[in-house]
Amino acid sequence: MTDAFESMDRMYRLQRYFYDATRKYYLLGRDRLLDEMDVKAGERVLEAGCGTARNLIILAKRHPKAHFYGLDASSAMLETAQAKVDAAGVKNITLKTALADDFRFDSTFELAKPFDKIFFSYSISMIPPWRESIENALQNLASGGSLYIVDFYDQRDLPAFFARLLKWWLSKFHVTHWEGLMPFLGEMRGRHDVKIEPLYRRYSFLAQISSK
Ligand SMILES: C[S@@+](CC[C@H](N)C(=O)[O-])C[C@H]1O[C@@H](n2cnc3c(N)ncnc32)[C@H](O)[C@@H]1O
Repeated sequence: MTDAFESMDRMYRLQRYFYDATRKYYLLGRDRLLDEMDVKAGERVLEAGCGTARNLIILAKRHPKAHFYGLDASSAMLETAQAKVDAAGVKNITLKTALADDFRFDSTFELAKPFDKIFFSYSISMIPPWRESIENALQNLASGGSLYIVDFYDQRDLPAFFARLLKWWLSKFHVTHWEGLMPFLGEMRGRHDVKIEPLYRRYSFLAQISSK
């Protein structure tokens, strides 16, 4: 457990300073997710693996009457995130150091009710216990709530050399498109409404899982 905290801190201790400037070119689909999330006044929205809080700050400015929460395994990343939140002057964001597979709306965030929306933006591909993290997110979601995931897909519709190069590059950052992920999301159909949309020739995907 503590390994995940330490390894993310090691990875992001320096990267956090140039993270936002570099990632905007290849974490594709994040803005699409933020645009599609229909956040209502009073809702509680959590990002699991929020990094520098780039997504949360955009949402918090757009929906000042909702409250946004972020958790991340790296407290170094969250130091940068908190500085960015303060600089943006937004007051509706709360950040906590925690693991995606091991948080609870009540004990981690001191909330009386579960979240209305939870999203993973390019974090599920870095989380080896991804199944447990998705199940934990669903357990912390209010009935009628939605879970969203945007992340790298299998690049099957892109030129083979590009897909190979990208996979090699991403492996340096411990990023993997988990083979079992799509079947796992597919098996949720029946209990949940599951929409999966490939983006940019399967470079990435956007999934929405809503309770029926
Ligand atoms: C590629 S960054 C994405 C950051 C942000 N979501 C974005 O879209 O810019 C992945 C983040 O997930 C965090 N992370 C990795 N494993 C985690 C885990 N098990 N629990 C919580 N956060 C985790 C990392 O520390 C990192 O900040």
